[in-house]
Amino acid sequence: MENENTGELRLVLHPDPILYRECEEVTEFGDELKGLARRMFDLMYESNGLGLAGPQAGVSKKIAVINASEQRGEAELVIVNPVLELGSEIDVMEEGCLSFPGIKGKVKRASALKLKARNLDGEPVEMDADGILARALQHETDHLNGIVFINRMGPAARFLVKGRLRELEAEYEQDER
Ligand code: CO
Repeated sequence: MENENTGELRLVLHPDPILYRECEEVTEFGDELKGLARRMFDLMYESNGLGLAGPQAGVSKKIAVINASEQRGEAELVIVNPVLELGSEIDVMEEGCLSFPGIKGKVKRASALKLKARNLDGEPVEMDADGILARALQHETDHLNGIVFINRMGPAARFLVKGRLRELEAEYEQDER
């Protein structure tokens, strides 16, 4: 987290303020960005996640890594400066997030979308997605805009996770001291 170019990345947990602000657009592409993406994948696999966004690794930049296939190396996707065009059909599914250990809750999301983003070389990419990938793309793009999945939960789901949120907040305060 201290040095995003060489150091090992560390998972950032709720309620760290970096999770709640919009990230900067990526303007420099190339080897450094590729190194960052590689280390983000390492941290994601180590933490058994399907996706990881920059701020969750302490890097407030619009980059996220996704692997919804659960097979390492296969179907790895890096999105930079993503913009989503959401379809009108809605799905409800239970989600979790590496920055909210022990919390799961139902979230409504568009069931299909079109992604417009850059790749690691700065080239524009476009992709249609549905299913688990569409969900992951929405979850990670939200992170890059300072929105986390508990912000997307309805009041009932939110009520159920209140206690665990308080615990995470107490642990964070302890670590800050
Ligand atoms: Co997340």
